[in-house]
Amino acid sequence: MVRDTKAHIEVAGIVVVVLAAPRSDARLHDDQQRPSIARPHLSTPLFDPARAYGNWARVAAHNDITLSANVTGSWRACSRESSLAGPESRTPSSSASPSARSRPARIVRPRDSPAAHHLLSAALLLLVLGVQLFAPRLPYEVLSFFAASPQKQFWPATPPRATSPALSSAHIPSSPPVCARVEQQLQFSGTFYTNTERSMALEEQAQRVAAEFEFPAEGVRAAVKEFIREMGEGLQKDGTELSQIPTYVTAVPNGTEKGLYMAVDLGGTNFRVCSIQLHGNTTFSLTQSKVAIPRELMVAQTSKELFSFLAKQIEIFLKAHHKDHYAGTLRRRATVSNAGGFREEEIFNLGFTFSFPVHQIGINKGLLMRWTKGFDIQDAVGKDVCALLQAEIDELHLPVRVAALVNDTVGTLMARSYTSPGKTGTLLGAIFGTGTNGAYVEKLSKVSKLLNNKDAGEFDKSTGEMIVNTEWGSFDNSLRTLPNTPYDAALDKASVNPGIQMFEKRVSGMFLGEILRLALIGLLNDPSITLFRDDNSATNDVHSTTQIAESSPLWTQWGIDTSFLSICAGDSSAGLRITRQTLDKDYGINAVSAEDAEAVKLIANAVGKRAARLAAVAIAAIVIETGRLGTSTSSGTNTTEAKENLEPARGTVDEVAEEDVIDVGVDGSLVEFYPEFESFIREALREVPEIGVEGEKRVRIGIAKDGSGVGAALIALVAGSVEKSEKLG
Ligand code: BGC
Repeated sequence: MVRDTKAHIEVAGIVVVVLAAPRSDARLHDDQQRPSIARPHLSTPLFDPARAYGNWARVAAHNDITLSANVTGSWRACSRESSLAGPESRTPSSSASPSARSRPARIVRPRDSPAAHHLLSAALLLLVLGVQLFAPRLPYEVLSFFAASPQKQFWPATPPRATSPALSSAHIPSSPPVCARVEQQLQFSGTFYTNTERSMALEEQAQRVAAEFEFPAEGVRAAVKEFIREMGEGLQKDGTELSQIPTYVTAVPNGTEKGLYMAVDLGGTNFRVCSIQLHGNTTFSLTQSKVAIPRELMVAQTSKELFSFLAKQIEIFLKAHHKDHYAGTLRRRATVSNAGGFREEEIFNLGFTFSFPVHQIGINKGLLMRWTKGFDIQDAVGKDVCALLQAEIDELHLPVRVAALVNDTVGTLMARSYTSPGKTGTLLGAIFGTGTNGAYVEKLSKVSKLLNNKDAGEFDKSTGEMIVNTEWGSFDNSLRTLPNTPYDAALDKASVNPGIQMFEKRVSGMFLGEILRLALIGLLNDPSITLFRDDNSATNDVHSTTQIAESSPLWTQWGIDTSFLSICAGDSSAGLRITRQTLDKDYGINAVSAEDAEAVKLIANAVGKRAARLAAVAIAAIVIETGRLGTSTSSGTNTTEAKENLEPARGTVDEVAEEDVIDVGVDGSLVEFYPEFESFIREALREVPEIGVEGEKRVRIGIAKDGSGVGAALIALVAGSVEKSEKLG
């Protein structure tokens, strides 16, 4: 495919200097589609090849409309000068206009002699083609020669922001990126399409960086040991690295639960409002709406700004999806004598999934410990987030009661247990998405900090179990066992919470793209490494100069999305076409060679694989600590009703006897979309001696979609019935 289009691309690459506008337009359009990606602000004068080549472009544009029109389809190969070109060089539309047609060119007067005009145009075009082909640096050299201080004049004093302080000396190219650098002109000694020497050197460098992300079996084992130690510590006292938060939820559902509940979910970039109809036969229907949290609210001055926004979304949802109920409630309220209250049966019990570390002091009470995932509203820290939401709901007079406070991992655990096959209750709910965390079923007797706390809220002790929210994002903040590359260190230093969430910063979706970006910047910083530096048509298989746009997200903190890692991992196309297209389209890195793409993929895969192996540490530790390997379900998770009673028994469990299954519910974009994430987890689980090949087989990992919605509804159900029975009693 790439080869088929080579000739086409080569021609386009050569004539690109003449033809600028559509590429500019395309790029603008693309930017508009991705408004959230911040672009470096370039205020200093740049080397602007469009200006350097401007006169030639103008001459050609004014004189050869037909040629311009012929190549409009060739934008893939357009180089950066085209995107920087000013409006005066835009073709073909501008050149096709009558006014452009009649405007005199600088060198000849076409109206005086059309034949001469065409001849001269052709000659000029040939000249441009020749220069581009045989002496691509020539225009720059000529300009440099005449410029007093070419470096200052044409290159920004402040390069595009390299946002990590630790890598702030990090590369930004020190010579015009359009023209090939002299030192880049390595000897060509490969086939016509590849340069073996170059690609081997690049591969070696990429392998060196990838090796920095290796997390070998000994590392996994040491980390599992440390994780188990921190679990124990966190169950005894507050203020530890693993927070081990008691959730007041003491049983998981069995699939027979029924009713209509509401849930809201605040945990990352979006806020979700849903209503869930539990059908009582392990199935449910869910209606939801989702809205992006405005960035300014994530870092608002006061918590009111955020929580009033959330309440407003609940109101909008109720009006849109539960109009009857909503209107009915309003009518009824107008007639009741008690102005402050609502009749209980008219109130939606709402499960509030709030996926940040909260010191829970009751089923619907919890004090925010700290923000994570880029949120930072200091005013909310230490406050009861349920009360904050309820206050705003009440201000809007909505028929909603915040009945349960739920971490998304707890919701995932509940949802998985509601829907999972077999009669085993789920042991662990885990999120590997924007953030990462896990909640598991612990023996109540081990949660000593709760049992010894006189101020602890009420909870049901009869099951002898409690779900504990580990907040494992903060596992090993002191880096006793976590791997730590220079890129991890740089990321942490530039984050809003240095030294905190160190496990999360190596595992979750919010961070993996940034780790990769920093690793790539590290390579670009070294002039001897040829990443993205194919400088002319002979040295790469797209026959064009590789360029990184000034506006490329590569230069900006958080500029690479973790979904790019999934794309790389899943790309098995010839010449890594998909990776290259993504680099071009989403990251402004044009005409990337197959070797470049291989190097990027190698590093991206290493970052992804390390994340999965780290994820295995947490899973392994919990499986071992809860003693599930030694016993069968007889001492497994309690469900609200024994699952054995379910007729017919639900689902099937492959090779492993049902009572031996250790069920794990997972959710999040990484585990859902990163190819092989689960296989890498499993590989690492087998390397932990206490688990081994046999134990790994017993671990059943299943996606619990919408856990934060369904799970929250399930907890609201339990909380609602507890409240009812308390009132009745
Ligand atoms: C939060 C957890 C949450 C996890 C997954 C982390 O940043 O601290 O509470 O469960 O993200 O959303």
